[in-house]
Amino acid sequence: MQVLNPDELDKFAYDALDDTKTWEGVPERKIGTLVLNQAPDNYFESTEESAFAPSRLVPGIEPSEDRMLQGRLFAYADTQMYRLGANYQQLPVNCPVAGVNNEDQDGAMNTGARKGETNYEPSTLGEVAEDPKYKSVRLPLSGTTQQQAIHKTLNFAQAGDYYRSLSAQDKDDLITALGTDLGRVTNDANKYAMLSYFYKADSDYGRRLARAVHADPARVKDAAAKLQD
Ligand code: HEM
Repeated sequence: MQVLNPDELDKFAYDALDDTKTWEGVPERKIGTLVLNQAPDNYFESTEESAFAPSRLVPGIEPSEDRMLQGRLFAYADTQMYRLGANYQQLPVNCPVAGVNNEDQDGAMNTGARKGETNYEPSTLGEVAEDPKYKSVRLPLSGTTQQQAIHKTLNFAQAGDYYRSLSAQDKDDLITALGTDLGRVTNDANKYAMLSYFYKADSDYGRRLARAVHADPARVKDAAAKLQD
């Protein structure tokens, strides 16, 4: 994994929370190994009924303001509620190993076996003691908020870096794969717009792809020259 402090997010020529970007110059740390060594005995219980959501976080891990992640915090848990039912977190494949003690009760297919009377928190009955050490971090905020496109886009530089990092064989395969799909595009303006993006990322990339789809290389080059990174 790579780690940045929030105050380092602005030090790049691109928005570090734009997840079409890779973080350059940030060392990778190995934190463990995930070993996939078993297929489920019961496919339905272990796979169809499983529910992974980015909003299910253990204390100590919290989401960043990455806008894609923010959308996903809601979307997965919401769809799982429809897909599996209100108490899907009690299914064996989804429930924590530690016992859950949160005053939630009832709802379809509840197996929580709650005995108390409160189903809200905080409650003067205080059936469950809160531990303040599990509070989320205190996040300082300033400025304004609005739905807006990312400002520091740097749309083409990393795409070019990626292309140049590939082996000759991988470049060939990439051109073949992209060219097959792009060759089917009948809208000429769209096809040339796409070709200009590849050219802007790397001129060899754009030229080869233009050749693969029998496009006019001069038109591609002219369109690329008008693009801003
Ligand atoms: C970084 C971008 C994303 C990644 C890496 C990602 C990854 C995944 C993966 C691995 C799955 C499981 C697929 C499967 O079960 O076969 C999934 C499902 C899903 N994704 Fe995403 N996704 C991304 C973006 C989004 C966004 C932007 C949304 C909506 C705002 C979204 C909503 C969902 C939903 C609703 C499911 C189904 C969840 C379920 O039924 O359990 N995803 N995603």
